[in-house]
Amino acid sequence: IIRVPIVQELARRGLDFLPERFIRVSPGNEIATPSAHDSGEACHPIPIIDMIKLRSEGEELSKLARASKECGMFLVKNHGIQSEVLSGVRTAVKGFFGLSFEEKRASVGSYSSTDNVGYGRNFVKSEDQRLDWIDRLTMKAAPKDATLGLRVWPQNPPNFREAIEKYVECARKICDELLEALGESLTPPEKNVFLKYFEEERSEINARVNYYPPCPRPDLAMGINQHTDASALTVLIQFENSGGLQVFKEDEMKWFRVEWPVDDGEELLLLVNFGDLMEIMSNGCFKSSWHRAVTQKDVERFSVALFYNPPAETEIEPIESKQIDGVSYKKVVVGDYIKHFYDVNPTDTKEAIKFALL
Ligand code: SIN
Ligand code: FE2
Repeated sequence: IIRVPIVQELARRGLDFLPERFIRVSPGNEIATPSAHDSGEACHPIPIIDMIKLRSEGEELSKLARASKECGMFLVKNHGIQSEVLSGVRTAVKGFFGLSFEEKRASVGSYSSTDNVGYGRNFVKSEDQRLDWIDRLTMKAAPKDATLGLRVWPQNPPNFREAIEKYVECARKICDELLEALGESLTPPEKNVFLKYFEEERSEINARVNYYPPCPRPDLAMGINQHTDASALTVLIQFENSGGLQVFKEDEMKWFRVEWPVDDGEELLLLVNFGDLMEIMSNGCFKSSWHRAVTQKDVERFSVALFYNPPAETEIEPIESKQIDGVSYKKVVVGDYIKHFYDVNPTDTKEAIKFALL
């Protein structure tokens, strides 16, 4: 058993220093955090895709295609998910992290440092591994059939599962529409080319709550170190405007703060990013985004990520698109890729995707 500190408990003590295991950068190489507006990373405005227009206007489809190629990330508005569904998620998530440590552990059954599911942290493989300033709660939300996988749901707050499952089903519909639109944006358009791998009864959706407590030294710590997601699509929501998400732009070779307003006044915005499975399916046309999350000194932040994947046994085959010179990715079985992804522990490096390169 690898012992790791519970970050929320550390933060509660009001430390004025950062414990060594959380120090990610050397002095002189500090991370620019959202509150340090004029030092460091510039802000990158993320295109906003309007779901209503996407259904009817070719222009919105071109916008989606451009956004997708630029940094593998876009915001979504007019998604039609009822505000009660989203506020239900917020209440459930904040309710859980508002419990004492003992109550949280009892609610889920355990606190674990190694599993990729449940309450705790994942990917911790050794005592001297540097740690992110985060506590997490990860659940397998789909497929519904519990025998297909371990499901860890908090029992407290009592309606936690119901709240997340409602949201998951709404988000699934948006993802399916986006997959169809992404296929349609190709030359020649092929509506079904990505969507065909997904099946309502069997596709996997994992839900992960990211909780970033206030951090004594945001300039030295990471909330989530740089990584790509393994997923096809990831849907993120956040509940405060404090910021934290950053994206790396290959063409400029630098990190940008993601300009991600919580809502557009009426509706919570969804942030969608591509993961490695999308990069593979699209034969590199839609690259997975290389991103990270930074922390803040006096502010806590929550985000909820849904990872949308085809069924584990699905073999995905890269498209042959005119936009790409030659085929550079190979067929992979979804479950094999995901297993490999977690085996190589892909924060810090882009090792995992090599598995799928020809
Ligand atoms: C993540 O990459 O899962 C975290 C993104 C965020 O917290 O904004
Ligand atoms: Fe991520």
